[in-house]
Amino acid sequence: MQRLAKRWQHEGTRVGFVPTMGYLHEGHLSLVREARRIVGRRGMVVMSIYVNPTQFAPTEDLSRYPRDFVRDKKLCRGAGVDVIFAPDDTEMYANEAAGSHSTYIVEEKLSRGMEGASRPTHFRGVTTVVAKLFNIVLPEVAVFGAKDFQQAAIVKRMVRDLNFPVKIVVAPTHREPDGVAMSSRNKYLSPAQREQATVLFEALQLAKKLAKGRGVDASELKEHVAKFIAQRPEARLDYVEFFDPETLEPVAKVKRGARMALAVFFGKTRLIDNARL
Ligand code: PAJ
Repeated sequence: MQRLAKRWQHEGTRVGFVPTMGYLHEGHLSLVREARRIVGRRGMVVMSIYVNPTQFAPTEDLSRYPRDFVRDKKLCRGAGVDVIFAPDDTEMYANEAAGSHSTYIVEEKLSRGMEGASRPTHFRGVTTVVAKLFNIVLPEVAVFGAKDFQQAAIVKRMVRDLNFPVKIVVAPTHREPDGVAMSSRNKYLSPAQREQATVLFEALQLAKKLAKGRGVDASELKEHVAKFIAQRPEARLDYVEFFDPETLEPVAKVKRGARMALAVFFGKTRLIDNARL
């Protein structure tokens, strides 16, 4: 992959990159279309498909994370992906368990709260694998989804802090008709859980309504959201946060332009969503 990328660089071919963990859905494919729009017909769009073990905690769903490479390949072809980079664990990390991989990238500010608080080793895995993928694919531009808003902010910060020559583009969250954000993990949900999964989107809408005007106390809004989520028997709120979209710092008063993010468990499945209020 890196040899190919170097050749493209030498030829002046533009490269757009969409990193994924596969089990593709319309959300992933919307990122592909955005990459294509940017690099044009003569550019190359690369997608990586790699379920990155270092961003999963031992208690998480690494082994049962859904995979279907044959289906992914078809979807990629249909969406106009030029090259799929699908490495295996030995290619990416040599033998990590045996200690032959020992270099990691750690972002120390934006990754503290929200997903980072709930999943303490997660973002270290994300920044490390994304840095590795950037060094292998050598893209001019990489497209990330707003669905994982904190991840996109952290990747942007890493790129700025470490001078990666990559432009990060963040594309909007793709949703099902009922508002549920598309996610590979939606597959885990039982019919009852899937029905109640609209509660994340509805909570965002509720907060949007309540945050109108001069601003509301974040603590008050959090209580509202918690009560709203508790009405769904299958749902268990992990966190809800109101924060500044640049610094990701929590805000005390929620005004228009602030961002809200939340994570909700349905059984063992954890769903996340966020929006600008
Ligand atoms: P994955 O969850 O497969 O997501 C890959 C990309 O698709 C991410 O940028 C994510 O934000 C975006 N995405 C997921 N659902 C989306 C939706 N409904 N609408 C728009 N974009 C969506 O995020 C990862 O993989 C990994 O952490 C990765 C960056 C690949 C590093 O391993």
